[in-house]
Amino acid sequence: MSKKKLVFSGVQPTGNLHLGNYLGALKNFVSLQKEMKCIYCIVDLHAITIYQKPDELRTNVLETLAGFLAAGIDPDKSIIFNQSSVSGHTELAWILNCVSRMGWLNRMTQFKDKAGPDKEKASVGLYIYPNLMAADILLYKATHVPVGADQKQHLELSRDIAQKFNNDFNCKDFFPLPEPLISKNISRVMSLRDGTKKMSKSEESDFSRINLKDSADQIIKKIKKAKSDSEPIPENPQELEKKPEALNLIKIYSDISKNSFDKVLKEMAGKEYSFLKTNLTEILINEITPVGKEINKLLADKSHLKQILKKGKEKANIIAEENLKIIREKVGLI
Ligand code: TRP
Repeated sequence: MSKKKLVFSGVQPTGNLHLGNYLGALKNFVSLQKEMKCIYCIVDLHAITIYQKPDELRTNVLETLAGFLAAGIDPDKSIIFNQSSVSGHTELAWILNCVSRMGWLNRMTQFKDKAGPDKEKASVGLYIYPNLMAADILLYKATHVPVGADQKQHLELSRDIAQKFNNDFNCKDFFPLPEPLISKNISRVMSLRDGTKKMSKSEESDFSRINLKDSADQIIKKIKKAKSDSEPIPENPQELEKKPEALNLIKIYSDISKNSFDKVLKEMAGKEYSFLKTNLTEILINEITPVGKEINKLLADKSHLKQILKKGKEKANIIAEENLKIIREKVGLI
């Protein structure tokens, strides 16, 4: 059995990638492709567990792809494709629906959050979504999965499913148990208006986030308006913990400037937030606006983007079919 490392990650298609996606996921994806073989999947089938307008879904898949490419994911090195184009995902998901247990799914906290108070009205897809996620990973026998903390529970479920499959069908070590890659130096980017909430495209105010397609002017305005503090920047990190918005700005600065948090804090201690904001605005403009321009440029040629998806799909499908053939045999399907 090959012990080769293989990275798989899935990203929901969204039309408005922001700084949180960029620093929290995309930059990590870019650096991982230097170390290992990587498969990055735009998970349109996960998206439809909550109703999506068809035209928006189509646009969002291409926007997400453009964001991947503009951030530096290389389609010649990594496999990039959309989930629904490789039918093995749904086939394996069905098989895994029969391996996974109701009791396991009933423990998933994200379902409870997303379904809201009236669970009866949630789609069945939303409920079995974690089984599809397990299928995504196991279809390629991926060994490493970069995920945010909110997906850790789903990844643990994938390991349980893999293990039960290996037991039930008497094939110890057939599916590797996928490991989470939760990198320590990746910070969670928080809302510019409320430092206790994650930066999110669903927060109503656009001033809460920096979008990758924001112009220099928009970045200037948003950082100027970002909540900070009336007292100067403290030198003690514990003091800063009490001011989540200020802490967030310093973390973003440290991330983008590639200077350690401690070094930045030493530099900034005693200064007014306006000083930090001026510096932060400058490096944000330098880092983000070229990415936004590249996204727009890529979006102007949709057929090129579709061609990239098609090539990715072909590569993914070869691995998927090879593995599925064995999986069908193991289960007893003719
Ligand atoms: N559920 C993940 C999210 O919402 C996306 C996802 C789908 C995923 N399949 C995956 C992530 C497989 C990692 C591996 O963010």
